[in-house]
Amino acid sequence: MRVLVTAGPTREFMDPVRFISNRSSGKMGYAVAVAARDRGHEVVLVSGPVALTPPAGIRLIKVVSAAEMLDAVSVQLESCDALVMAAAVADWRPVEMSVQKVKKLAAGSELRLEPTPDILLTINPRKGKRVFVGFAAETTGMETEARRKLSAKGLDMIVANDVSQPDAGFDVDTNRVVFITADASAFTLPLMSKREVADRIVKWVENACPLSSVPAPGVSVQDTAPEGGARLAQQWNFIREIDKLKLVLRRTLLLDGSRYENDAEHSWHLAVMAVLLREHANEPSLDIVRVIKMVLVHDIVEIDAGDTYCYDEKGNLGKVQREKVAADRLFGLLPGDQQQELMSLWEEFEDRSTPEAKFAAALDRVQPLMHNHGTGGVVWKAHGVRCGKVMERNRHVEEGSRILWEFAETMIRDAVKRGYLDE
Ligand code: CTP
Repeated sequence: MRVLVTAGPTREFMDPVRFISNRSSGKMGYAVAVAARDRGHEVVLVSGPVALTPPAGIRLIKVVSAAEMLDAVSVQLESCDALVMAAAVADWRPVEMSVQKVKKLAAGSELRLEPTPDILLTINPRKGKRVFVGFAAETTGMETEARRKLSAKGLDMIVANDVSQPDAGFDVDTNRVVFITADASAFTLPLMSKREVADRIVKWVENACPLSSVPAPGVSVQDTAPEGGARLAQQWNFIREIDKLKLVLRRTLLLDGSRYENDAEHSWHLAVMAVLLREHANEPSLDIVRVIKMVLVHDIVEIDAGDTYCYDEKGNLGKVQREKVAADRLFGLLPGDQQQELMSLWEEFEDRSTPEAKFAAALDRVQPLMHNHGTGGVVWKAHGVRCGKVMERNRHVEEGSRILWEFAETMIRDAVKRGYLDE
């Protein structure tokens, strides 16, 4: 599933230094996001201002006000199967926002407020088959209030909690909640950690979601594998995780121009090229199996770090750091020996100093050239990329294969001649 989670408070500013907000720490929403990630789902987290560390492997969209949260939720909703609305959205905002700090003596004693948009109510007409879960943090009449919100906001389930209790309120790590579902049944959970509550919520969503693509909850490889189960479970977890590579889109169009290529398709193409084009490598004795392994893993870090367009100078600035963090998390899912093997293959590719890495890198450049040439250079044009940049960016193909570089140069010159690429 693709799960959209909101978390934390919103802030509604009256001037650059003062705002209306609430005591939400964001812990419950972040716990739901992490629980969903750990159960193999893709997660988008829309978060108000909180003091929590961004969880790895989760797309985080930071917002400040209710209006910004509504915008982010509206955009993300389309591609999501479920929404867990754990954010404590501020209900009121100042009618006017002063650009300068309002001086004490100039301000009156009254602040004019207007309601913020109700996010769940606003997006309800687009719900379709999606599963919507809301929260109700109450201090009195918890169940009655929660039932009212469940029906008013068209939710499938509401998680109600009494925030007047010290172990279930704001900024603590535990919660005591009641699940109330659309069929009016209520299920009271004992006091448990927010993480445990989060796991229960995610499992409930999995069961309720008609679009869910995860295996039946409760059946894990560890439960079914008789021996060596832990090792297989780690490997299987990684194999499931890299399915996300199919969701990472590159800036190259398929040759028929119908859509963007994804990273998994790109890696597969390079592996086939390695098998077929090895005779054109500069180094005749290179280890082709290592090249194949290298091209199969070289982009996996982009599951977390995203694809950075090679001609995007700004985007390339923090790329190394982003990818290192991603490599640690993703390869870290594997058993120790395989973690090391894949990590060193990825590092070897990045270093580009061995004959295998040079040849793999050459393939990695020639393949997108084929796509750009074959689709009339529309992506080059859209990003204002010119011939000089393409030559400079691809010149290292020569280090892996002089023959492929000659071939690439011919393709680039032909693209210029045909008007696909500006001089
Ligand atoms: N919510 C929302 N948009 C708002 C306010 C709340 O989508 N502007 C969502 C919350 O994220 C939560 C649910 O609605 O999932 C209930 O929020 P809550 O603050 O308890 O309810 P309100 O509708 O704001 O009612 P009240 O403040 O009167 O209790």
